[in-house]
Amino acid sequence: MSDHFKVQMQAIKDYENRPKADNPVKIQDLTLRDGHQSLFATRGRTEDMIPVAEMMDEIGFWGVEVWGGATFDTMHRFLNEDPWQRLRTLKRYIKKTPFSMLLRGQNVVGYRNYADDVARAFVEKAAENGMDIFRTFDALNDFRNFETVVAAIKDCDKHFQGCICYSLTEPRMGGEVYNLDYYINKAKDLEKMKADSICIKDMAGLMAPYDAFELIKALKETTDIPIHLHSHFTSGMAPMTHLKAVEAGVDIIDTCMSSYAYRTSHPAVEPLVMSLIGTNRDTGFDIKKLADINVVLEKEVLPKYKHLLDDSKVSIIDINVLLHQTPGGMLSNLVNQLREMDALDRIDEVFAELPRVRKDLGQIPLVTPTSQIVGTQTVNNVLFDDEDEDYKMITAQVKDLCYGLYGKTAVPISSKLQKKALKGYERGTKPITCRPGEVLEPELEKAKSEVKGLTTDLEDIILYTLYPVTGKKFLMYKYGKETPPDSLKARTLEDVKKADEIMAKAKAGKLVDKSSGESPEKGENTRTFNVFIEDEYFEVSVDEPGGQPVISYAQPPAPPAMPTQPQPQAAATVPAPSAPAPPTPPAPKPVAAPAPKPAAAAEGIPLPAPMPGMIVSYSKEVGDSVEKGDPVVVLEAMKMENSLPAPVSGTIKAINYKSGDSVSKNDVLCVIG
Ligand code: CO
Repeated sequence: MSDHFKVQMQAIKDYENRPKADNPVKIQDLTLRDGHQSLFATRGRTEDMIPVAEMMDEIGFWGVEVWGGATFDTMHRFLNEDPWQRLRTLKRYIKKTPFSMLLRGQNVVGYRNYADDVARAFVEKAAENGMDIFRTFDALNDFRNFETVVAAIKDCDKHFQGCICYSLTEPRMGGEVYNLDYYINKAKDLEKMKADSICIKDMAGLMAPYDAFELIKALKETTDIPIHLHSHFTSGMAPMTHLKAVEAGVDIIDTCMSSYAYRTSHPAVEPLVMSLIGTNRDTGFDIKKLADINVVLEKEVLPKYKHLLDDSKVSIIDINVLLHQTPGGMLSNLVNQLREMDALDRIDEVFAELPRVRKDLGQIPLVTPTSQIVGTQTVNNVLFDDEDEDYKMITAQVKDLCYGLYGKTAVPISSKLQKKALKGYERGTKPITCRPGEVLEPELEKAKSEVKGLTTDLEDIILYTLYPVTGKKFLMYKYGKETPPDSLKARTLEDVKKADEIMAKAKAGKLVDKSSGESPEKGENTRTFNVFIEDEYFEVSVDEPGGQPVISYAQPPAPPAMPTQPQPQAAATVPAPSAPAPPTPPAPKPVAAPAPKPAAAAEGIPLPAPMPGMIVSYSKEVGDSVEKGDPVVVLEAMKMENSLPAPVSGTIKAINYKSGDSVSKNDVLCVIG
């Protein structure tokens, strides 16, 4: 054994037996929730968490975040997985480490405030299925939206972690709104609500290291409640921010396994563990056990998801966060939306408009769902506003926000915008100032009757209440009423291998295999074909081995089915606003009917989709008469609902889609004649 090797062995031995630190930093792992949510659109499947679940339970994490945020939405919508089942499955493998989830307060795991009965039932069911720590946040930092869920969390004897969303209006903490006092006061509010821990949620990675030091130190002086830091890597500052937070005495820090770390995700756990070895904040973790987990993730799991990784850039830092403070998820939404509308060249206009819209809407933090609300409205403004009119197409969610349905904004909403948004608003023109939950009618009983015959299970009913359109689809699959499409199936390692082989062949220019065997004699039935590949011409001889050639004629494809009119309406329709004041629609352009869209069958003026999205509901049927400006169809785009008005007065001649259908820009939604 060489001396050098002996020294190494000694070092490893000491590492394993190192004394416990006085005040170890506690670590929560986010790999199984925020990690894959940040890096590959929340597409991680339960079956791909199982291979590492038991190993992760051995590390000594303070908690493992496994649920909440976008998981509930994505699982039923894109993975055909029951979100409730994930909890029960993982609990069989992770027995020691507490489970943590991200709960959007009264937004639960959706994009609007739900009624109290939904919020309470959700928490109770989550607790029953094994949730231990409820990390609760509100996009407006309006803690009245915590009241219902916190009472339920406490009744279930679970851990209530109160979040303060970290937001800025200038490059560093301070200014009129988001200054040190703001955060200290919010922490005091959470203390009054008996929070078991307080989390600073820096969803866009905006927290600068020295601001973290000042903030954490002040919070530690204000309260004895443990302080937890959640800071995304996006801007590149988070590892430095973590270290300064550790120095300031932060109790718990969020990280990911290194293979799920960085980019818009979180700093990796391994460098932090190594950095703190031998200090009084040493985590005490075994770095070798962490390395073993990464081997499994790299070999068995990540190949299935690498096609979802955004590898369009070499840099792992998003410079836009430093320049525009646009959170990563929000930015990719904006880019996708603009790209689908052939307007990607207008991204700079969107960046310029964004701070104005945010200010008009009360300088709210940008986090789900407010990031979508502000982002979508900004895109609408850039694309549809003109010199004569501002806020031409106001989303339903902006109207709700102006009414007070999301809660109290950091500063008052622009009164001009508020007035315009609430003109004819279904709930009234005078905004509310009470806790939003107080004006929301109970929802569960109604949902129960809407899915009667399909299910009576409360978990299903909650899922349906949160996601009526996609939730119903999922339940149809779950109970065998419909066959799920192949697109919802998991990608296997076999699939990945095949795809990689084809890629390698294509790159080597060998996509078309040449037979390696000796060529047989040409038979007398050989037929010769001329084959053209673009401009290249090939002569190909085909010989049916062993006899007469079998000649079959290719069937011409069946003509696309003409729409049956009227289309059956989906049961779940959103009640039409009682006295709508719809925005002036974009002038219906002469639409080159995209083949094979059936709208051409009916004569009249088409209502084209102004943006790609999903049909939520039609409020009219074929044969109904409409006045110009009446709302006809609700289109969901970027999770926001847009009520589209009739471009002319007349009769509905054709309705071309149904609830749940996806449409592209300019698809003809209905025809009015
Ligand atoms: Co996060």
